[in-house]
Amino acid sequence: MIYFWSSIVHPILRYMKPSTIIEVGCAQGLNTLNLLSYAQSHDSKLIAIDPAPQFDVTLVKQVYGQSFDLKEGYSLQVLPEIETADVVFLDGDHNWYTVYHELKLLEKLERFPLVFLHDTEWPYARRDMYYFPESIPPSYRHPHARKGILPDINELVDGGHNESVWNAAYENGPRNGVLTAVEDFLAETKLTLRLHRAHSQHGLSIIMPNETVQEREHNDKVQQIVAASGL
Ligand SMILES: C[S@@+](CC[C@H](N)C(=O)[O-])C[C@H]1O[C@@H](n2cnc3c(N)ncnc32)[C@H](O)[C@@H]1O
Repeated sequence: MIYFWSSIVHPILRYMKPSTIIEVGCAQGLNTLNLLSYAQSHDSKLIAIDPAPQFDVTLVKQVYGQSFDLKEGYSLQVLPEIETADVVFLDGDHNWYTVYHELKLLEKLERFPLVFLHDTEWPYARRDMYYFPESIPPSYRHPHARKGILPDINELVDGGHNESVWNAAYENGPRNGVLTAVEDFLAETKLTLRLHRAHSQHGLSIIMPNETVQEREHNDKVQQIVAASGL
């Protein structure tokens, strides 16, 4: 996600001026710190969600005070507690079940937020990855292994991309991958939403409401920012 900060994410935040930002999936907190720097200087708040953050949460809370809250848990358990969100980053468990249901939970908010999603291109557009396979109901969990991925090879391999995490044993097919989850959600929702995509660095997608005149203006501006980024 950090790769998109200066040319896409930060310009969009400056334009949209969100009050409440939700980040699902923090890892070492690189994007989290960027978001906190934005939140502190714009009087907004970041609520981060991660069952296993890899940074000193106590220290970051001391530095950023009221601007920061971190909920240690799975997104699908924590998101129902969230009452409002202007901008949401979905960069947690990169599999169909999690992303599809995260979007379904966001759909229940009073206003659908602007949603950034990472990993909507190869290798996880059409292939599930599981940080926590035990958190996915068995009927949605594809066969998986801690083996790597190579372009244009369906089977997992020794030594390929991201071999330290649990990857689905095969690519494509129903209910497999992050982009598939986005497409399935968009095909079903009754909301008028628009999808923007940057294709580099494993892909960034942005979903935005596109109903009112103002929302359509916002979409046009976001489209300009994404196009100008060249990413
Ligand atoms: C790809 S990393 C996040 C990278 C981070 N957004 C960045 O830009 O630097 C994924 C993170 O999501 C967390 N995660 C995995 N499953 C999750 C879930 N169901 N809910 C929330 N976070 C989850 C993992 O613990 C990990 O820290």
